Amino acid sequence: MTTQHNGYYLIETYGCQMNERDSEVIAGLLETAGYQAVPAGQDPDLVVINTCSVRDSAEKKIYGRIGQWKDLRRRKPSAVVAVGGCMAQAPGTVEFMQKKYPHVELVFGTHNLHRLPEFLQQLQETGMPVYEVANEEHQVHEGLPSARENHIKAWVNVTLGCNNFCTYCIVPYVRGRERSRNPAAIAAEVEELVAAGYKEVTLLGQNVNSYGKDLPEDFGFAELLQLINRIAGLERIRFTTSHPRDFTRSLIETCAGCEKVCEHFHLPLQAGSNRILKLMNRGYSREEYFRLVDQVRELVPGAAITTDLIVGFPGETEADFQDTLAAVEYVRFDNAFTFMYSPRQGTKAAEMPDQLPRSVKRERLERLMKLQYGISRAENEKLVGQRVQVLVEGESKKDPTRFSGRTRTNKLVVFPGEPADVGQLRMVEIKRAKTWTLHGEKVEGCS
Ligand code: SAH
Ligand code: SF4
Ligand code: F3S
Repeated sequence: MTTQHNGYYLIETYGCQMNERDSEVIAGLLETAGYQAVPAGQDPDLVVINTCSVRDSAEKKIYGRIGQWKDLRRRKPSAVVAVGGCMAQAPGTVEFMQKKYPHVELVFGTHNLHRLPEFLQQLQETGMPVYEVANEEHQVHEGLPSARENHIKAWVNVTLGCNNFCTYCIVPYVRGRERSRNPAAIAAEVEELVAAGYKEVTLLGQNVNSYGKDLPEDFGFAELLQLINRIAGLERIRFTTSHPRDFTRSLIETCAGCEKVCEHFHLPLQAGSNRILKLMNRGYSREEYFRLVDQVRELVPGAAITTDLIVGFPGETEADFQDTLAAVEYVRFDNAFTFMYSPRQGTKAAEMPDQLPRSVKRERLERLMKLQYGISRAENEKLVGQRVQVLVEGESKKDPTRFSGRTRTNKLVVFPGEPADVGQLRMVEIKRAKTWTLHGEKVEGCS
């Protein structure tokens, strides 16, 4: 560990939990290399922008931000602006950045972020920009340092990459093939987290259900859940994302049998029309999806089910879209992340005929959101009067006498509390429900 102070760093993170987790590793690597987090109001010496390329809207916003950091270079010419993550890894980005954003002197990918300190040193020594997005995807790097943001719940990678090639999705191209971490390494990481006081872990992968398929031993996601469930002192286990194609009755039974596994299933449906599901290469039908939902409700009573939905996939007709609305009404999701289809260069769907105009996508998105908001609120209202267990995460930003945390079903609960509640499990009686939050009061004497 070096004690030399190399300057202040700032990391801006976009995209999914994988990127959030990667940014914690980036922070850990930088701190080990002698950088410190920048104090509020000061200019950093190093900015790292960890990017996402899943939709065009994300990319546009990120390019805007990268452009804004040019001012920092004007104020402080020695400052370094670095860009990493999925957008950096996408083909053609490096050439584009060289041309349009010459103030960015370091571009690195998703496969080599562990080499960031080395790249920074190279930049300092040579004064020449470093563009390193080589594909080194066969490796899983263990034992990297990390500076986690939250001290109550933690992200833990279980698989990296994705093999599914859903026809709309860029992720397999920018994250590489699916690789599973060794179970012992995962368990050791969770044990360390528990020893450091963490109460909850979320196991991360693009498709956690296919965990272990590439391992030499016969050890799958069910076995992993059982292994982590045995770790004393850990209170809650979550996982994301479950691909419906690989989610089975037996896995639901395993979840039901592991007391630490929370009653929340994020099962991205994407579309309600069988024709569109096929064009998306999702590998399941709406009927198979409904069967899974029924099994979850049978085996894990009270479970929350959330989803991701895309509107305006190429060739989606009004009738196809109606199938999505009907599916949403059938399942009654607790919450749904809804997106307008965004063509991604290099994916199959981007080449499909009948790309829909933005106005149609926008209008369908609005109808879908309206339906889902009503359902989210109605599902939350069912909880009024009930007592729920909340893992308290901190005080409300708006009001320091109010605290917030999540139920096992991942619902946000706000209640009057005290600093001693933070990091603890508390029972809260729900008094009022809104679309996104539940409001309640602590039930004293219970936890
Ligand atoms: N591995 C996860 C999804 C990761 S991406 C899974 O399979 O469920 C998160 C979400 O972004 C996806 O579920 C999908 O709904 C959305 N998404 C991905 N590519 C998209 C695109 N090209 N346009 C719009 N939404 C997209
Ligand atoms: Fe993308 Fe499909 Fe992989 Fe999810 S499973 S990351 S949607 S290709
Ligand atoms: Fe995640 Fe975006 Fe990359 S959704 S995997 S950060 S493209």
